[in-house]
Amino acid sequence: MTHALTRAALGAALMLAASGALAADKLKVGFMLPYSGTFAALGNAIENGFKLYVAEQGGKLGGREIEYFKVDDESNPSKAAENANRLIKRDQVDVLIGTVHSGVAMALAKAAKDADTTLIVTNAGANAITGPLCGPGIFRTSFTNWQPAYAMGPVAKARGHKTAVTITWKYAAGDEAIGGFKEGFEQAGGKVVKELSLPFPNVEFQSLLTEIAALKPDMVFTFFAGGGAVKFVQDYHAAGLDKTIPLYGSGFLTDGTLQAQGASAQGLLTTLHYADGLNTPRDNAFRADYSKAYGAQPDVYAVQGYDAAQLMQSGLSAVQGDFTKKADFRQAMRGATVDSPRGAFTLSTAGNPVQDIYLRRVDGLENKVVEVAVRKLADPARGCKL
Ligand code: PHB
Repeated sequence: MTHALTRAALGAALMLAASGALAADKLKVGFMLPYSGTFAALGNAIENGFKLYVAEQGGKLGGREIEYFKVDDESNPSKAAENANRLIKRDQVDVLIGTVHSGVAMALAKAAKDADTTLIVTNAGANAITGPLCGPGIFRTSFTNWQPAYAMGPVAKARGHKTAVTITWKYAAGDEAIGGFKEGFEQAGGKVVKELSLPFPNVEFQSLLTEIAALKPDMVFTFFAGGGAVKFVQDYHAAGLDKTIPLYGSGFLTDGTLQAQGASAQGLLTTLHYADGLNTPRDNAFRADYSKAYGAQPDVYAVQGYDAAQLMQSGLSAVQGDFTKKADFRQAMRGATVDSPRGAFTLSTAGNPVQDIYLRRVDGLENKVVEVAVRKLADPARGCKL
C-alpha cells in the first residue's frame, strides 16, 4: 500500500516535471520558402510578416518561445520532398510554414500529411492542397489559384470584353489561375479564344506577344509573379500592346513588383485578396509596424506570413501553448477568425480562407483598391473529403 502510494506520487511528480519541461521547450517552426530564384523576394516577405507578428506578441506564440529552422526550396519541385523531410525528420519541427511555388507545395503537403506534421501554406495556391490533398493538419492563409482569377471573370465581362487570350507559365499555378478566370469569364458570357503558355520560370515572351497581336482579342488575362511578372509587364508595354489590348491579371502581376515595373504597370487592373489603400485601422497599424521594422511597405506575401503566425496563435492559445494537444490545436485553428490586415477571414472546412477579393488599379507605387469584386469568396474545394 505504502509502496503503491509512493509510486503514484512519483508518477505525478514526473508528469509535473515533464509538463514543466514542455512549457520551457521552444516551439520549433520550420520555414520552407524560396530564398533564391524568381520568387526570392516573396519568401523573404513571408518570413518578415511571420516574424513581425511574433515580435508584436513579445517574441512568443501561445506563451512559448520559438526556434526557427530554414530551408531554401529554390522553387524547385524536384528537390521538394527531400527539403520538406529535412525539416520534418532531421529538425523535427512542430509546424511547417511554406511555401510559394504550387508544385513544391504539393510535395510539401504530402510529406506533412505522411508525418502528421501541421502545415500552414503561406502562398502557394495549388487547388489540390485544400482539395484532394486536404487533411486535418493542412491549413492555408493565402488563397487557391482559382480564387482571385475567378473573381476577374465577371469584372472583365462587365467592362465589355467578350473575347480573351490567356498567357501564363505552364505549371499548376498558371494552369489553375487560367482555369479560374475561364470559369468566371465564360459563366458571365465571355469566351477564352486561346490559352498560351511557356515553361516556368522562362521569360522569353516575344513570340507569344507577337501571337497575341495577331489574335487581336478584346483583352489578355495573365498569371505571372515575382521576377517573371516584372519582365512580362515591361515587355507587354514595350511591345505597345497595352495601347490596343488591355492586360488584366490576378494581383500577383503587380504585387511587390511596382518599383521595378515603373511606368509599364500604370493603370493595370488586377484582382487579389489584398490591396493598398484599404485604410482600416487594422491594416494601417500593420503597415506602420511593418515599414518601421523592415524599412519597406508590406505586400500580399507579407500579409500571408503575418496571418500564419496569427493563426498559430489562435491554436496555441486554445491549448495554453501545450503543443502535445495536437487535435485541439488544429481544431481551434480551423474554427478561428483571423483578424487579417486584408480584412477578417474564416477558414473553410478544407482549411482555405473564405475572403473578399478586391479589384485594384495600379497608381504610382500602389495597387489602389477600387471595390470589392467578390465578397466572401470560398474556393469550391473540389475533391476534399473532410
Ligand atoms: C504558386 O505557385 O502557387 C504561386 C506563386 C507565386 C504567386 C502566386 C502563386 O505569386
